[in-house]
Amino acid sequence: MTLVLGIETSCDETAAALVDDRYHVHASVVESSIDAHRAFGGVVPELAGRAHVTTIGPVVKRALQEAGLDALSPQIDAIAVTSGPGLIGSLLVGLSAAKAFSLAWGVPFVGVNHLEGHLFAPLLEQPDLEWPLMTLLVSGGHSLIILQSGPGEHQVLGETIDDAAGEAYDKVARWLGLGYPGGPEIDRLAQVGDASRLELPVSMVGAGFDLSFSGLKTAVVRATQKHNDVAIEDVAASFQAALSEQLLRKLRSALERYEVRGVALAGGVAANSALRAKLSDLASEFALTCHLPSLEMCTDNAAMIAAAGLHRFARGESSPYSLGADPNWQLDGAR
Ligand code: KG4
Ligand code: ZN
Repeated sequence: MTLVLGIETSCDETAAALVDDRYHVHASVVESSIDAHRAFGGVVPELAGRAHVTTIGPVVKRALQEAGLDALSPQIDAIAVTSGPGLIGSLLVGLSAAKAFSLAWGVPFVGVNHLEGHLFAPLLEQPDLEWPLMTLLVSGGHSLIILQSGPGEHQVLGETIDDAAGEAYDKVARWLGLGYPGGPEIDRLAQVGDASRLELPVSMVGAGFDLSFSGLKTAVVRATQKHNDVAIEDVAASFQAALSEQLLRKLRSALERYEVRGVALAGGVAANSALRAKLSDLASEFALTCHLPSLEMCTDNAAMIAAAGLHRFARGESSPYSLGADPNWQLDGAR
C-alpha cells in the first residue's frame, strides 16, 4: 500500500489528509480562516497567509494522529502539496512545509495543481467510476467545463472569460447586503423566492463552451435599482436561475458534442442546491451517471490533493526542492 500525505493551503483553508493508493481516506483535517475575512467581504491574502503559518503544523499533526501514525516519524511514502494556482503567500506556506517534512522524513514530494485536485474528488467517493466524465468545476476563483478521459487526463473545453461563478454569487450577495461568503445565503433565500420576478439575461458567450458572469451581476444591480420593491428572496431566485441556466445550457451542448459515461460537479459552488438538482436531471436525460460530491468534497481539502499526487507518483513523478509556487498555474499548462 502506498500512503500519501496531502497538504493544501492555496486560499483560506489549511488542510492535511492521508490517502492510500486505493483512494481510501485515512484522515482529512480542514481548518479555515474564513472568520478573519468576513468583515472584509472576501479573503484578505495577508491574513490568510499568516493564518496558514500558525495552523499548518497542528493540522498536519492532527491528520497523522487521526490516521494512527507517529507524528514525529510517520510511515508514509510521499507528500503531495498544492503548488498553484492560488494566493502566493498562502501557497508558499504549504509548499515550504511540504519540503521541510520531505527532508525530515526522507520521502519524496510532488507539487500538485489545485484544480487537478478538484478533479480527483469524485474518485475519492467512487473509486470505480466510469470514464470519460464531463466535469463542471465551479468555485470562488474558477469556472471550467472539463472533459476527463481518465484520472489526470483532461481537456479544458471552456472557462469563464471574466468572473468565476462563486465570485458572481459573492458580489451579488454583497450588493444585496448579505454576508460573505454569499453563495450559501443566496442559495437559501432562492429556495423561497420567485425566479420569474426579475428578467435577467442568460449570457452565452458565442457558440463555444466559455462562460461569463459579470454581465449577469451588472444586470442584477440595474434591475434592482429599477424595481426596488422586489423582495430579496425573488432577486436571489432570479439570479440563481439565470446563472445555473447558463451553466446547464453550456453543459448540455458539451454533452451533445462529446460522448461520456458520467457528469460530475466540483468546487465550492457544487454545494448549490439548484445546480445539483439541475445537473442530476440533465444526467438522467442523457442516461449518464451523476457524481455530486458531498459537501466536504465540494470545498477545498487535502484528500483530493493527495489523490492527484498519488496518480503523479504512480507515473514516477516527483518534484525538485527548487520547485516554486505558481499562483497562475493553468490546468492545461506545463509546470
Ligand atoms: O471552492 P471554494 O471553497 O473556494 C475556492 O477555491 O474558491 O468555493 C467558495 C465559493 C464561494 O464563492 C461561495 O460563495 C461559493 O463557493 N459557494 C456557493 C455555495 N456554497 C459555497 N455558491 C452557491 N451556492 C452555494 N450553496
Ligand atoms: Zn478550490
